[in-house]
Amino acid sequence: MKTIDDLGDLRGKRVLVRSDFNVPLDGTTITDDGRIRAALPTLERLTDAGAKVVVTAHLGRPKGEPDPKYSLAPVATRLGELLGVPVHLAEDVVGPSAQATVEGLGEGEVALLENIRFDARETSKDETERQALARELAGFADAFVSDGFGVVHRKQASVYDVAQVLPAAVGELVLKEVDSLKRATQDPERPYAVVLGGSKVSDKLGVIANLLTKADRLLIGGGMVFTFLAAKGHQVGKSLLEADQIDTVKGYLADAEKNGVEIVLPTDVVVAEAFAADSPHEVVAADAIPEDKIGLDIGPASGELFASKIADARTVVWNGPMGVFEFDAFADGTRAVAQALVDATGKGAFTIVGGGDSAAAVRTLGFDEAGFSHISTGGGASLEFLEGKDLPGISVLEA
Ligand code: 3PG
Repeated sequence: MKTIDDLGDLRGKRVLVRSDFNVPLDGTTITDDGRIRAALPTLERLTDAGAKVVVTAHLGRPKGEPDPKYSLAPVATRLGELLGVPVHLAEDVVGPSAQATVEGLGEGEVALLENIRFDARETSKDETERQALARELAGFADAFVSDGFGVVHRKQASVYDVAQVLPAAVGELVLKEVDSLKRATQDPERPYAVVLGGSKVSDKLGVIANLLTKADRLLIGGGMVFTFLAAKGHQVGKSLLEADQIDTVKGYLADAEKNGVEIVLPTDVVVAEAFAADSPHEVVAADAIPEDKIGLDIGPASGELFASKIADARTVVWNGPMGVFEFDAFADGTRAVAQALVDATGKGAFTIVGGGDSAAAVRTLGFDEAGFSHISTGGGASLEFLEGKDLPGISVLEA
């Protein structure tokens, strides 16, 4: 892969950067700016080199046309604050405003094009449509830097096609992400423990199947655990259950036993009357969830059990919260796992937090990011990496 160094002297050159600014918003307030901060090393390097930097990014999933709800305006403001220079936001993607904004850029200045997904060609399945948009984007620049790790699993115009039109290089963030995820997946130092959570097991099938041949221990929490408990023959009350996946999960449990992979499930669960922050709650055994209760976190004994399984691991990958951490009463399981990773990092283990939700959880719960070897900005992208899938936004740079 070519790096920014390979692009040569960038003074006065226009460089198009694909970043992932898909940040959580509450109205127009950014509730976690981790992805914007993660983009700074590349952007600062380019501005320091005197390049005219044109950034393209998406936010949410607008329907291929402008939608003010998904404007990148709050991102432009925050990015400007973090960079310490104003960021010129174009009012369109590749239209007259974008053209004027790019033309007006001076050396070391930054422009942000409006949400690339306001143009339906970005996500089109029709390659010729995507390529047409890619050519228009390429018209704004002399070189392309791919730095939106969270979106490298998408074969989209600003991620994949544009890299075929312009001299393309990998950005600092994508480089760091790929190095870290490779370290954890290719010949990891053992014991290798993987903690999986999040709501749906159906989102993680490929990852689980792949890890059953690679990891030493698989710790399961979050909403997906109830399908595992059901596969073990337990009642799960009103908890989240994907009944159509029970047989698949039974297959995983059998494969794990055959391959000598330890599957660790919670022994206790925090159950509530309803999915609400203030719902009355109690701790029950994982095999005794009352019929009228909903499980919203792993219990304290499980937190300790999971921590003990992480304590002596040399490589730990964590994807997905253990419970509804957004509600204080159901955040302890996620907190226990985060603390266990921090402790393991302190003992020299290589630890990765992957997935938008777990990365946000770590920050929301007040953990210092330095306590983890790497916090991935990728949700789907880091999962697909763990699955061993081809990531179009990476392979196009390798071609
Ligand atoms: C993410 O949030 O995982 C990335 O920004 C990709 O977003 P997408 O799933 O809408 O393509």
